[in-house]
Amino acid sequence: MTYAIVMFGEPVLEKQAETVTDFDSPELHRLVDAMFESMYAAKGVGLAAPQIGISKRIAVIDLSVAEDPQQKIILINPEIIGKEEMQTGEEGCLSLPGFREQVTRPRKVTVRAQNIKGETFETSGEELLARAFCHEIDHLNGRLYISHVSALKRDLIRRKVRKLAKAGEWG
Ligand code: NI
Repeated sequence: MTYAIVMFGEPVLEKQAETVTDFDSPELHRLVDAMFESMYAAKGVGLAAPQIGISKRIAVIDLSVAEDPQQKIILINPEIIGKEEMQTGEEGCLSLPGFREQVTRPRKVTVRAQNIKGETFETSGEELLARAFCHEIDHLNGRLYISHVSALKRDLIRRKVRKLAKAGEWG
């Protein structure tokens, strides 16, 4: 099943998502599968559950965009437990189509999360993967990448989105 991506402006994107407590259930498996499908349909490399309107602490990442099953990552209740160095690069978001901005993030990130069975694991990523970890975990905390750009740029994006929404061309 594919869900529509929730667009910037919807309150679900700007609130703290709820901790997952029920593991290995058919519902959780279905939801994670639907998240991957929805992400691939939108040609994204990462998706957080609030982006399909579900306020739960679940994120999926696949930098290969369905090319390599080994690169599929499921993060449930993730938290960043280590950061090293910094990187600046272009970032976008499926909930803000048409926009990209330079964002500074840690270059190496270690995450602690639970898998679909509820087992805790740790994983590390560098460069694009580190950026994806930060971006998706931000989503679970109600934060979009534009909170990391200047107020001036953020206001410009907000104004453009308002204009698109007025014209019926947003979401
Ligand atoms: Ni995003």
